[in-house]
Amino acid sequence: EKIEKGGYEHFMLKEIHEQPRSIMDTMRGRLLVEEDIIQMAGIWDYQEKFLNAERIIIISCGTSWHAGLVGEYLIEDLARIPVEVEYASEFRYRNPIITDKDIVIAISQSGETADSIAALKLAKEKGAFIYGICNVIDSSIARLTDAGSYTHAGPEIGVASTKAFTAQLALLAMIALKLAKHKGTISKERFNSLIIELETIPERVAEVIKNTESQIKKIAELYAGAGNFLYLGRGYNYPIALEGALKLKEISYIHAEGYPAAEMKHGPIALIDENMPVVVIAPKKGYYDKIVSNIQEINSRKGKVIAIVTQGDTVVKDMVTESIEIPDVSEYFTPILSVIPLQLLAYYIAVLRDVNVDQPRNLAKSVTVE
Ligand code: G6P
Repeated sequence: EKIEKGGYEHFMLKEIHEQPRSIMDTMRGRLLVEEDIIQMAGIWDYQEKFLNAERIIIISCGTSWHAGLVGEYLIEDLARIPVEVEYASEFRYRNPIITDKDIVIAISQSGETADSIAALKLAKEKGAFIYGICNVIDSSIARLTDAGSYTHAGPEIGVASTKAFTAQLALLAMIALKLAKHKGTISKERFNSLIIELETIPERVAEVIKNTESQIKKIAELYAGAGNFLYLGRGYNYPIALEGALKLKEISYIHAEGYPAAEMKHGPIALIDENMPVVVIAPKKGYYDKIVSNIQEINSRKGKVIAIVTQGDTVVKDMVTESIEIPDVSEYFTPILSVIPLQLLAYYIAVLRDVNVDQPRNLAKSVTVE
């Protein structure tokens, strides 16, 4: 096992560090910048289905569900196809409306999650075209679906998903861009500049790990004793707030909630005082001004803000206790970078709390029963 961990103390830390590589592996052979194409047979062979789909429904569980939410933002924003994201466990039991004009995409690291399998079977029965995004080759979902694309993140051992998640995000970005190109919802020039940028994302991820890890270790020491955490984000980074909170809960057993930042005023704001650390994902993108005012609201209630900011940001930096920088990239790709510090924060807090990081209590890597 020591050898398998490659010198890291835990699989989770190893898998966090593998992300530049696993994202690259997921894009290899698909993102062909020189030819100006995204090559994905799973989509291309069924282009009629995809280009005529009236709706895409994404079903999944846990971390994969958070990837699905980012997928919704990406596909709607870029390719203008309506997308719904559902928990597989709810979808399967609520008599959903599914037609043969729908595409149902299951996202699953293991490809074995019982609820996701059942939801897919239901969609298939109702005539939808079913598509799988799985990490484990030849898994049940991969075999059940009409078509699909693998994330090539490699085996993920830590129960808390890290590299499978960022691989899912990279894959969803490729799907959204490919559909957008063929639907004509983005210009050729924009497509070209976005794929050039996407290709550099693994390097940016490596920079985030290199530049933030020691800082995050120190932040973890300051906050490892906290009883609660709040995570806030907007737009593309709202699902990342959910994912950051989930990571912390899973492995540190600290209660954490993720919220869309603007919803704070409808509840969580009541919880904010000097004992409430609030992680705010605040890249200098679309909703920046609104996030700044959310931070002011937290400050005036003496909450402690740990902010994820764009490199060179000064406004948020001056307002908060801790700020962690990520490189400046297009908004579409910010989730792949902003989640990295949150994975590291959860990891280092869990280590300080002496939790079995790779196998937290009561959780399973793959939930194959209901
Ligand atoms: C379990 C795992 C999570 C995972 C979820 C969905 O809860 O502990 O890490 O996100 O299942 O798993 P899947 O394999 O379908 O992505």
